[in-house]
Amino acid sequence: MRIIIAKDYDELSKRAADMMASQIRVEGHTVLGLATGSTPVGAYKELIRQYEEDGLDFSDVDTFNLDEYYGLSPDHPESYRYFMNEKLLKHVNIDMDRTHVPNGLAEDPETECLKYDQLIEELGGIDFQLLGMGNNGHIGFNEPNECFVANTNLVNLSEETIEANSRFFNSAAEVPRQAITMGFGAIMRADKLLFVVSGKKKAKVVAAALQGNITPKIPASILQLHKDVIVILDEDAASELK
Ligand code: GLP
Repeated sequence: MRIIIAKDYDELSKRAADMMASQIRVEGHTVLGLATGSTPVGAYKELIRQYEEDGLDFSDVDTFNLDEYYGLSPDHPESYRYFMNEKLLKHVNIDMDRTHVPNGLAEDPETECLKYDQLIEELGGIDFQLLGMGNNGHIGFNEPNECFVANTNLVNLSEETIEANSRFFNSAAEVPRQAITMGFGAIMRADKLLFVVSGKKKAKVVAAALQGNITPKIPASILQLHKDVIVILDEDAASELK
């Protein structure tokens, strides 16, 4: 695990975008794993800038998002499909048919989950996965649990996550109670992981995840077992590291 400490959010975003961009430039065809939340937004802005000004070419990129709220349609402004389109996808030359987000309206979520994992497999797995982290250490929507779940699955969101994500909705009551999330199988099989965390509020859980015991109670702690993970923290998020 390589840990980079950026001085602030802007530097974190620039470094994260540069790593994603160089993956695309060097490999050409790339299966990119994408994340939502506010943390990656700065990196997505920089990727759009590199597309517009430096010719970064997304024409041979496939994307898989980590998760989607269950019950939200793709055109709901808080759905993760909508978020991804707005924050990155519609601003670059990517083929929208090659961008994947779990279907939050799937009538049969179990089949949707199976299909999502199969599609990732069919495309040869994820080459480069971007990850953020929730306040309770969750990755995607893999909440603190008794075990690490391997497959894409339908999860119940924790009260803490509903509360944290209520800032994007009119009230906590509007936050969906369930989500479909990629499991740790596809994440841990990705060739490269880029884990980005910003802000003092997450400093304690960052230290626990990166330097504490590996436990499903702190889902991000599993990243310690990955063979090629780069962590970018800003100084605030790194402030509790030993
Ligand atoms: C959501 C997403 C996660 C993301 C987390 C952190 O819960 N499902 O993938 O990492 O938010 O969000 P933020 O970066 O806004 O703190």
